[in-house]
Amino acid sequence: MDHPLILGIETSCDETAAAVLRGRTILSNVIASQAEIHSRYGGVVPELASRHHLERIDTLIDLALEQARVALADLDAVAVTQGPGLVGSLLVGVQAAKAIAYVRRIPLLAVNHLEGHLRSVFLEHPGVRFPAVSLIASGGHTSLYLSPDEDRVVRLARTRDDASGEAFDKVAKLVGLGYPGGPVVDRLARTGNSRAVPFSSPRMSDGSLDLSFSGFKTAVLRHARSRGLDRPYPAGEPDQETRDLLASFQSAVVEFMVKRVMTVARRDSARSICLSGGVACNSLLRARLAEEAAKEGLEGYAVSPSLACDNAAMIAEVGRRKLLRGETADWTLNAEPGLEL
Ligand code: KG4
Ligand code: ZN
Repeated sequence: MDHPLILGIETSCDETAAAVLRGRTILSNVIASQAEIHSRYGGVVPELASRHHLERIDTLIDLALEQARVALADLDAVAVTQGPGLVGSLLVGVQAAKAIAYVRRIPLLAVNHLEGHLRSVFLEHPGVRFPAVSLIASGGHTSLYLSPDEDRVVRLARTRDDASGEAFDKVAKLVGLGYPGGPVVDRLARTGNSRAVPFSSPRMSDGSLDLSFSGFKTAVLRHARSRGLDRPYPAGEPDQETRDLLASFQSAVVEFMVKRVMTVARRDSARSICLSGGVACNSLLRARLAEEAAKEGLEGYAVSPSLACDNAAMIAEVGRRKLLRGETADWTLNAEPGLEL
C-alpha cells in the first residue's frame, strides 16, 4: 500500500470537514464553516457546534468522496481528529470514523489536531529543509515547535493564556465586529495606522520564550473604552479611529510572534520557518515572517489559506503516516479534548 486512499474527518471546533488523499495527493478537501452561526455570539458556542456537526457530517463525507471520484468501498483507511478540541464536536467525527471503519473493516487512525496543523506545511511543501521551526497559530492554540527532521517534533514554547487567534476574535468582538475576528481585523487594518496606538510586548519573568496574548487584548479593551470605541455587534463599518486601533493591535501581535520565531530559529540553527493554523492566513504575519526569514537566509513556508484553517486533508496526511507505521486505533478510541503534541 504505497499510496493508500485515506478519508480524513475533522470536527474539533466549528468547521465540519472531510477530505480524501491518495498518498500525499489531495483528491478532495471540503469544509463547512459554522462561522455565521457563531458570529453573533462573538465566539464558538459548543452546544451549537456539536449539533451542526451532527447535521452536516454525512453530507460532507459524501461530498468529499464524490469530489475525489471514489466510493466508500475504495478506502484503505479512515483518519479522524481525536483532540484537542471541544468534546461534543470531536465525538461527532470520532463516531462517524468508527462507523465507517467498522462497516468497511478498514483501519481507524487517531490524529492529533495540532500535528495536523504542523504537517499541513510539509504536505504542501515536500521540500522543507530541516531543522525547521514551526509556529502553529490558531483560535485554540499558539505554540512553537522544533522539528529536527520530518519525524520528530519538540515543543519549544506555548501561550500561557489566550491563543493568538482568540485575541483577534476577542478584539473584534469588543468593537462589535463578530466572529471570527481575524479575517475582518486583517482587512480593516490595511486602512488603519499601525503606529497610532502604542502597545508593549509581554515578557516572561522567568526568561522563558513562552507566548502571551491576553495583555494585547486588555490594552485594546482599555483604549477602546476610554475612547468610546467599544460597541455591540453588529457595529457596521468602523470609523478611522477604530481601524487605527485594530492596525496597531495587529502589528503589535504580529511583531511579537515574529520576534519569538526568529529568536528560536537563530538559537536552534533552523534552516526553515513554517507557519500554520488559521492565523497563518494573516497577511501581515505572512509578509513579515517571509521578510525576516529572507534576511537571515532561511526558507519561509506559510501554508495556503485552504490548508491553514481547520481542514481534514491535514488530518488524512497524519493518518497516512500512522498507517505506514502500523499505528492504528481500536474500538475504544475516544475524544481527547486536552490532547497535547
Ligand atoms: O486553525 P483554525 O481554523 O481553528 C483552530 O484550530 O482554532 O483557526 C481559526 C482562527 C480564528 O481565531 C480566526 O480569527 C483566525 O484563525 N484567523 C485569522 C485570520 N484568518 C483566520 N487571524 C488573523 N488574521 C487572519 N487573516
Ligand atoms: Zn485548528
